[in-house]
Amino acid sequence: MSERSRNLPRRACLSVPGSSPKMMAKAAGLGADMVFLDLEDAVAPLEKEAARGQVVEAINTLDWGEAVLCVRVNAWDTEWTYRDVIDVVENASERLDELMLPKAQSAADVQALDMLLTQIEKVTGRKSSVGIEAQIETARGLINVEEICAASSRLETIIFGPADFAASTEMPVLTGGVQIPEYPGDHFHYVFSKILMAGRANGLQVIDGPFLKIKEGEALRDYAMRTRLLGYDGKWALHPDQVAIINEVFTPTQEQYDRAFDILDAYEKATTEGAAGERKGAVMFGDEMIDEASRKMALKFVSRGQRAGMSRSSG
Ligand code: GLV
Ligand code: MG
Repeated sequence: MSERSRNLPRRACLSVPGSSPKMMAKAAGLGADMVFLDLEDAVAPLEKEAARGQVVEAINTLDWGEAVLCVRVNAWDTEWTYRDVIDVVENASERLDELMLPKAQSAADVQALDMLLTQIEKVTGRKSSVGIEAQIETARGLINVEEICAASSRLETIIFGPADFAASTEMPVLTGGVQIPEYPGDHFHYVFSKILMAGRANGLQVIDGPFLKIKEGEALRDYAMRTRLLGYDGKWALHPDQVAIINEVFTPTQEQYDRAFDILDAYEKATTEGAAGERKGAVMFGDEMIDEASRKMALKFVSRGQRAGMSRSSG
């Protein structure tokens, strides 16, 4: 894993075609926590080889600020993956944080990338190691998500890819990653939960994929809130307009942030103050009981808010 990016927030994760120098130049200043320069599905097959050099140029010359910087290579079932990895990692500066592996199907897929990266790092003398983000977007990938999430110490995130997943499972939809009002409930609830458990069990950030109806901001907000409420860290943005909505959905509200601090203060007081025998592990906070689990829940809001640059309201 990359020490720099391992714990950086990934609320909005912006996808940018690696074959478009213009879009890559624009992407650098759009306020996404993570940007990935795509060599996979956003690049036409005849542009794939030229895009590698364009991606390297963008990494080495643009100012990416604090964003986590990633390149999505092509999947192992194509003829492009190994050259994507070698050309990009041998020539990109240390500013490159990670590679994204689409259509991860098994632990071996991740380990193959890990081994290739290890050799390239040895030969080039790279100081920071390159992290990996893996996408779950096939039925086989979902079945193997537990071994995939445990496959390499380079892994930083696990990502759901709804469009390819719908194709892989033969869902009768023509747009991936959007609501299906006719379905009673959420057609991806099982998938979201399974990926979340596997990711969290291995200490990974867990990210939801794209929402393809670019012009429907309110529908995006509604859909993003589902994975946010389950516990996901962030979601892809396919267009600059989606970045602000996703950042907002995945950031605590000021009220939640302040309440989390109040819980931490009340818990600290209850557990440490008073004479021997009077300190309490569970205590009333307003009209509810809080305990050690409440402290852990509150800490999540605090760390996410801090990562988003929030400060506690005074008084
Ligand atoms: C993303 O890659 C998807 O297939 O949804
Ligand atoms: Mg995909």
